[in-house]
Amino acid sequence: MMKLTRRCFRPPQGLAVDGDTPKEVLIFKQVGKVATSKALIDASPDKGRHDQDPSNRNCHPHRSDENNEFTVVHNGIITNFKEIRMVLEKKGFVFESDTDTECVAKLAKYLYDQGKGKLSFTALVKAVIKELEGAFALIFKSTKFPNELVATRRGSPLLIGVKTDKKLKVDFVDVEFGADSEKISEEADAYLASDKTHPKMRRTQSRAFLSDDGQPQPIEYYLASDASAIIEHTKRVLYLEDDDIAHISEGELHIHPAAARRRRLLAALAQVMKGQFKHYMQKEIFEQPESVVNTMRGRVNFNTHSITLGGLKAYLSTIRRCRRIVFVACGTSYHSALATRAIFEELTEIPVSVELASDFLDRRCPIFRDDVCVFVSQSGETADTILALRYCLERGALCLGVTNTVGSTISRETHCGVHINAGPEIGVASTKAYTSQYIALAMMAIQLGEDRVSMTARRAEIIDGLHELPRHIKEILATDAELRQLAQDVLFGQKSLLIMGRGYQNATCLEGALKIKEVSYMHSEGILAGELKHGPLALIDETMPVILIMTKDSLYPKVQSAYEQVTARMGRPIIIANTGDENVAKNPCHKIWVPQTVDCLQGLLTIIPLQLISYHLAVLGGVDVDCPRNLAKSVTVE
Ligand code: F6R
Repeated sequence: MMKLTRRCFRPPQGLAVDGDTPKEVLIFKQVGKVATSKALIDASPDKGRHDQDPSNRNCHPHRSDENNEFTVVHNGIITNFKEIRMVLEKKGFVFESDTDTECVAKLAKYLYDQGKGKLSFTALVKAVIKELEGAFALIFKSTKFPNELVATRRGSPLLIGVKTDKKLKVDFVDVEFGADSEKISEEADAYLASDKTHPKMRRTQSRAFLSDDGQPQPIEYYLASDASAIIEHTKRVLYLEDDDIAHISEGELHIHPAAARRRRLLAALAQVMKGQFKHYMQKEIFEQPESVVNTMRGRVNFNTHSITLGGLKAYLSTIRRCRRIVFVACGTSYHSALATRAIFEELTEIPVSVELASDFLDRRCPIFRDDVCVFVSQSGETADTILALRYCLERGALCLGVTNTVGSTISRETHCGVHINAGPEIGVASTKAYTSQYIALAMMAIQLGEDRVSMTARRAEIIDGLHELPRHIKEILATDAELRQLAQDVLFGQKSLLIMGRGYQNATCLEGALKIKEVSYMHSEGILAGELKHGPLALIDETMPVILIMTKDSLYPKVQSAYEQVTARMGRPIIIANTGDENVAKNPCHKIWVPQTVDCLQGLLTIIPLQLISYHLAVLGGVDVDCPRNLAKSVTVE
């Protein structure tokens, strides 16, 4: 059975497996997770289930006909599917679902029959994708090609994990290399190590993973959109490029053309196991004292107060001369850019704007050659962010990537950038990636501002603050039991929660509210305290739960005034304050203490209790913490 793996495959979904005879493919469909469909196989081992229940009929895989001649799973959007469907319906095809995917399966059958069965599986898939518009990662099986599987992509990510006990050499069979397998392997290894596209590899076909003795070995292949989906099975991953066709036949993998790159994910397997933790989200929150160090490792010199981001070195003077910096991102990544905008403005004196990728594209924001655009994305595969990147590339801007995923589309398509090195993030709710993005961006601002002598002391102060971070984060994590109690006693069961702050804490409020709503399903809203009187104050009464971030920075008096506005309306906010703040200590309300650090880094600490509270609310509510409903780790469609 070919393993099709995708973490958190959003419903609807199902499985296609080989039947007892080589010319049989069985389809099982069930709304829910892959495990649900697997249970169906156990219940019905020989029949397969092609359900017409309206909730299940849109489940993948989709098929060409009732004999399951061609079976397809798809991630992405086929924008011209209505036209294809119309043509195929005229040719007599009867559609069973409302999906764009089904037209791909039926188109494959149509073209196969047109070619009178003479096309090879790969030639057929090439012909199919020629007709498609939009973004797709597709996997095909067929009863016409038993024991074969073909996969391809355009716009949507697709990777192949390879698992075997044997030490492997990658054998790129190339007409110009001849049959000298030693030489082939050396060339292939050099190519893989160099991370570059080998000119010969591009032009020719590649073939097979071979064992040390040159014999094909039984190998498991895992196809997925995101490496985090398969990392528990293998660390060997090939990323397909647009329009590559991967062909698995009799256990061998062929890539046409040979543009795929193997990457050993840097993460050790141990890194992705839950260990003592109940959920990945919890593990990732508790990993932050180490993940922030990994983001800084080899880049920050705490003695000389200097920062070197190797990925930007060659572009520093260009960036310093730009007329503005535009950050583009979605969700949590957008918040990390928002959190660091003020540091950029202060240290570089370059105007900065922060854009949500979808809105940036909707507005077709004006972008020019002297703009620097920074694309922040944990996965490096978020569709809106990628489309915004391509939009900026077309307009000649210098494009930087800030991602956590080596080899991702954003890290490949940007001119330069920074990897945040937070390690694989498996929980759908982003936690450690946020703090690492924040640090990577702060480091970028410091390095860019290094030519400003007047800022030397300020840069040193921030770098000293970075040095203290792991210790400070550990101190907050040590209060986990109290935060759990607070979540249980005060917040659990409430309908809504407002999180307020201003200045550097604005991003924390938005990010904290996002965490709470996505994992606990409780409504939560981040509110800029300066906006209170302009509307949100109307929400305040004795029943509305409020968290107020009141840390010691230049805006402290203004936040105090927000506190007074809230309490005057009988609100009883929970205050996040700096340890030792006597003014807050004598207050009768609930308090969450965080160590004081440099103002512009304080948001790295105030977010941690909010991450923990959201986690505990999710657990108390019985939510599938690592995979909340309706969400996926990589949002690879617009
Ligand atoms: C929230 C969360 C999302 C992502 C967003 C962008 O916890 O994880 O909001 O931040 O989908 O994803 P990336 O960073 O992969 O581009």
